[in-house]
Amino acid sequence: MTRNPDRLRQAVELLLAGELVVLPTETVYGLGADAANPGAVAKIYAAKGRPAGHPLTVHLPAAGHLAQWAAEIPRAARDLAATFWPGPLTLILKKQDWVPLAVTGGQDTVGLRVPAHPLALELLAAFAAARAPAPAGIAAPSANRYGRVSPTTAAHVHEELDGKVALILDGGPCEVGIESTIVDFSRAAPEILRPGTITADDIAHATGVLPRLRDDRADKEATIAAPRVSGSPAAHYAPRTPLRLMDSGRLAAEFVRLARAGQRVAVLAYSAAPRDAGLSPGWRAAPLEPTAYARQFYANLRALDALDADLILVENPPALPAWRAIADRLRRAALGGAVSS
Ligand code: TXA
Ligand code: MG
Repeated sequence: MTRNPDRLRQAVELLLAGELVVLPTETVYGLGADAANPGAVAKIYAAKGRPAGHPLTVHLPAAGHLAQWAAEIPRAARDLAATFWPGPLTLILKKQDWVPLAVTGGQDTVGLRVPAHPLALELLAAFAAARAPAPAGIAAPSANRYGRVSPTTAAHVHEELDGKVALILDGGPCEVGIESTIVDFSRAAPEILRPGTITADDIAHATGVLPRLRDDRADKEATIAAPRVSGSPAAHYAPRTPLRLMDSGRLAAEFVRLARAGQRVAVLAYSAAPRDAGLSPGWRAAPLEPTAYARQFYANLRALDALDADLILVENPPALPAWRAIADRLRRAALGGAVSS
């Protein structure tokens, strides 16, 4: 990544003018707009094809900016921000009155995060300096079309949004690779709305409070009626090719059975490839370590999707807390392959 002051200045100018700028973060690339400008925020929905009413995350240059956006900041939320920001953590807090409903999806809460990517932080700081003393934040959902696979390189963003954005800042491949952990502090007890690489145990360690994990299977109908988290429950993070999850013990046999039946089956697996793997248009080896798995995950899904196979077979991750965020994305991808919009 080369630092380019002209591009940074151009990005700030575009944001001030209400245009869209794609920025790298450590999790995934974000489709950014001035969060205080409802007209600019509307362009995000149009470019993504995302239905209105889904709240967007506002990115801030530092935790010191939190009080300009959030009206109530519980102690545990402050502790989390102090521990994990900049980093892959989004806090849902009661919003300040002035924060536009366009950015919160009409809710009285706002999602806030300080990303850990140096280029994002530079952009956020420059934007805040241009705006000071007024609050400055960049609303940025993942820079993919609605319901599709999140982008973790600038090339992925071009595949998703070419021609729809004023500028794409290239910050190289994303370090973390999956979206931030979302913790909701707007209700009585903290709740994880979306699992990420910061786990419930990490949060308990930093705050002394073990957050509940929202079970969105139980919540499914309520979520469809009034979506609080756009990743819930179906049709998300989804390749175009149908995707099926398979336990390790059955993977090889199932693959061979389908391949012999004439199906073109692409595979993502951490177990060793069987001798018959040559029957597959693509057998991708995934690391059996959650951090590395997450970093490559969306690029792997994209590569397998590009093969135009009949099916993507994915080996189920181990049922351990460190794999929860990946298991969550895979479950959604499996739902979405067949029904994605
Ligand atoms: O890692 C990330 O969080 C990435 C990068 C770009 O920062 N962003 C991201 O944005 O994943 P998006 O919009 O694809 O997902 C953000 C999630 C959405 O599911 C949204 O519904 C939820 O955060 N969210 C934002 N504000 C919220 C609120 N006030 N209440 C409930 N959920 C909220
Ligand atoms: Mg997204």
